[in-house]
Amino acid sequence: MKEWYDAIKEAQSVEKLEDIRISVFGKKGVLADEFAKMKSAPDNEKSQIAKELNTHKNELMNEFTAKKIILQTEELKRAMMAEAIDVSLYGSQSQAGALHPVMQTMDRIVEYFSSMNFAVKTGTMVEDDFNNFEALNLPKYHPARDMQDTFYFKDEMLLRTHTSPVQIRTMMSTKPPIRMIAPGAVFRRDYDITHTPMFHQVEGLVVDEEGKVSFANLKYILEDFLKYMFGDVEVRFRPSFFPFTEPSAEVDISCVFCKGQGCRVCSQTGWLEVLGCGIVDPNVFKAVKYKNVSGYAFGLGVERFAMLIHQIGDLRSLFEGDIKLLEQFQ
Ligand code: DAH
Repeated sequence: MKEWYDAIKEAQSVEKLEDIRISVFGKKGVLADEFAKMKSAPDNEKSQIAKELNTHKNELMNEFTAKKIILQTEELKRAMMAEAIDVSLYGSQSQAGALHPVMQTMDRIVEYFSSMNFAVKTGTMVEDDFNNFEALNLPKYHPARDMQDTFYFKDEMLLRTHTSPVQIRTMMSTKPPIRMIAPGAVFRRDYDITHTPMFHQVEGLVVDEEGKVSFANLKYILEDFLKYMFGDVEVRFRPSFFPFTEPSAEVDISCVFCKGQGCRVCSQTGWLEVLGCGIVDPNVFKAVKYKNVSGYAFGLGVERFAMLIHQIGDLRSLFEGDIKLLEQFQ
């Protein structure tokens, strides 16, 4: 039996110890073997042999259990050393996402108009010719369509070139009064430092009974809005033309870069154009079968606002997915 005590003592691994356990305590192991042999021993010796074998059995089991704990602890220690984590190393950093600067600007615009009780409407990006052009007093072959060339599908469907069709959708599906804005993506065949083929606009429309909505109302809200967006700027209205408004105006703010002194960004004029607006043209109301109403409308480009707020030189850089660039605007 002594060799088994030695074997247990010298075992170097849990695996080796397990082999020994099977050889000693297993069904065909040494102890089973010895007990079997005992049966053929003379009767008067049997109890003595059994006693000795049982003593060995208990002691070997004690040795085995103690050794097993030692080996397991050592193996665990070794595994832990091998897997040791260096807590002084930098981990792989997880990056928190954030809103794109254009969306931040859009949210701020929507926030202002929501606070002024405007409902938010969305419309669809694939529009029909009627909503996008025809009902907005832009009949086929009207030269103003040239500035808004887009992608055409069959059946007079197209990628909307502005958010103005949401005016039509809203008027066709609800009765006046209306007080809404429509933020969303629009599409045009343009690509340079201030134009991208996809960009965002926010449209506004207010309609009420005849005589209730005036240019003065429009002027008040746009001035208030532009001061909310750009701080302490001057606002001016210039006569302009849009097929869906009459009279129409373009609105400028004093240049946020040079405070109206004249610089490269404002082409030395001291003014920056930021939106278009006007009194809704009677032909638009005719197209949606509205009678005895008055209204104003306005439309603005969100990217243009974002560029002015963040002083971004090339609009295209906003759509290149460059995280390092975008992170600057958080
Ligand atoms: N839809 C025009 C554009 O994309 C912007 C615009 C101008 C909208 C005047 C209006 C408006 O509602 O009254 O250029």
